[in-house]
Amino acid sequence: MKGVILAGGTGTRLKPLTQIINKHLLPVGSYPMIYWPILKLIEAGVNEILIITNRHHLNSFIEVLGHGEEFSVNLHYQIQTNEGGGIADALISAKDFINQEKFIVLLGDNVFEDSIKPYIQAFDVQGAGARVLLKEVSDPSRYGVPKVDTASRRILSIIEKPSNPPSSYCVTGIYMYDQKVFEYIEAINPSKRNELEITDVNNLYINNNLLQYDILEGWWIDAGTHESLFQANQFLYKSIKRGGEH
Ligand code: G1P
Repeated sequence: MKGVILAGGTGTRLKPLTQIINKHLLPVGSYPMIYWPILKLIEAGVNEILIITNRHHLNSFIEVLGHGEEFSVNLHYQIQTNEGGGIADALISAKDFINQEKFIVLLGDNVFEDSIKPYIQAFDVQGAGARVLLKEVSDPSRYGVPKVDTASRRILSIIEKPSNPPSSYCVTGIYMYDQKVFEYIEAINPSKRNELEITDVNNLYINNNLLQYDILEGWWIDAGTHESLFQANQFLYKSIKRGGEH
């Protein structure tokens, strides 16, 4: 299976750190943030990885990561032409790289503990459709929030940044898709924040009864704010002390 890491965006919530450096190159533990999703993909056996970023940050990524020599994988790059166009818009740039295969997408600012291997295996077995990973959080309004029917193990709908969250789960930035995703992206319209929302794409999978989910067990952080970036560092240092990741 191929992997895509989204590492564009404007990093507004991390200003002024992101004034001159892309969010995904900021330090988390002893590495730039982007190392973590790369290492998660490698651990799960994914060795063809596409990084999608902005035009003016592309060279910084190539300087830091090369084409994957350090990791013994193939790193490819694509530019998101519509900077700030949203997650679903960025994914359009992956179409040629993906071709007809099923694939996994990681948001480059999601730092987490679980191995994604079992979830990828479950997606392999699933056949057609998409699969998302949920995590229970204390502040669901910050995220895409699913309404879940636990008895039938189905997500009934997902609401992006709801003021009245229908559950205490969030949809993490770990998504698995088949090639239908590109059709669905074409079918959606920009949201109120003028982005093509991945939540709208996932809702189309739900409407077609094609979305399945798992729940992440370990810690998970969207390191897109000053506070959560700090937390991500704390979690990683704790894990290093326990003899885990570096
Ligand atoms: C994005 C998605 C949201 C998801 C979150 C996970 O939010 O839109 O559904 O829960 O990533 O990190 P954003 O970072 O654009 O606010």
